[in-house]
Amino acid sequence: MPSATMLKALVKAHLESNSEQFHTLTLQIAAHEAKVGHIHLANELKHLIDREKTKKPKIINLNAELQGLILERKSNERLSDLVLSNDLIKRIQRIEREFIQREKLKLHGLVNRRKFLFAGPPGTGKTLTASVIAKELSMPLNIVLMDKLITKFMGESSGKLRQIFEIINDNTAVYLFDEFDAIGGERSKENDVGEMRRVLNSFLQFIEADKSDSIIIAITNNVSLLDNALFRRFDDVIKYELPSAEERKILLMNKLGSFSGDYNINEIVSLLEGLSHADITRACIDAVKETILSDRRIVEKSLLINMIKERQSVYNNLR
Ligand SMILES: Nc1ncnc2c1ncn2[C@@H]1O[C@H](COP(=O)(O)OP(=O)(O)O)[C@@H](O)[C@H]1O
Ligand SMILES: [Mg+2]
Repeated sequence: MPSATMLKALVKAHLESNSEQFHTLTLQIAAHEAKVGHIHLANELKHLIDREKTKKPKIINLNAELQGLILERKSNERLSDLVLSNDLIKRIQRIEREFIQREKLKLHGLVNRRKFLFAGPPGTGKTLTASVIAKELSMPLNIVLMDKLITKFMGESSGKLRQIFEIINDNTAVYLFDEFDAIGGERSKENDVGEMRRVLNSFLQFIEADKSDSIIIAITNNVSLLDNALFRRFDDVIKYELPSAEERKILLMNKLGSFSGDYNINEIVSLLEGLSHADITRACIDAVKETILSDRRIVEKSLLINMIKERQSVYNNLR
């Protein structure tokens, strides 16, 4: 048995997601077990670590300056979690299919589609889609923080962006430039806006020049940004919309699950018109939480309607 100190260190490494430390400790335990004659257990432990290591993506070694500009995010969502029109689902499947069979395409001088612009209103599943693609293709999801790049490296952000594209080239993964055009709004300073415009231009040039194996996804909530010059740089532009009645219905049923009551679902679905996927998800989860906390088994219709109205009022207050 590992010592108490060892065991505590192991749990600590796990809780801190320090996989390097976790592996080292496990191998130390394996060595110790081998020494006291538990050869079988030692081999099993080593085997577990080897298997984990081979499937582990390479950790990107960022130099100190770029630290904090690219974050790896855990992705656990699957395609079946995405509620979108059949057309969009097919286009997402096409991204995955072409990536998986990219070598086959290469033999014919063709390249898989891998540079995307996702555009549309907030809360319709753009970030979620990036996460799903990373998960389905077993790749890390790396988020590039454009706003941080601009505020931190005022005047030299384009040079830093070049370094980021070198990383994209050397480390195959899904790279997400989430709300890459977000800066430049009211909150930013005058000189930030000029810097943003410069960075945006270099960004588009780097995207165009990129020949890596990575999947690059740029996301914008700002549909007015979409002009033809922009489309041209991407292999595909995917436009997200507020959920259709059919999508609202699926979301409602998925999110309420076994807490669903026997109300007229179509009536609720029409109440949800104008809300985003994220809003509907929130309203349902809020209603389920309230139901659990008041020791009920089914979400009451009136409670559900209240939660929906609460979501809608957020927008009414903003207007
Ligand atoms: N199309 C969708 N299908 C299922 N859930 C969704 C969808 N869109 C949004 N959600 C829910 O709302 C959350 C936030 O959505 P997100 O992908 O961040 O929206 P966006 O990036 O378009 O603003 C998601 O994590 C998910 O729980
Ligand atoms: Mg988003």
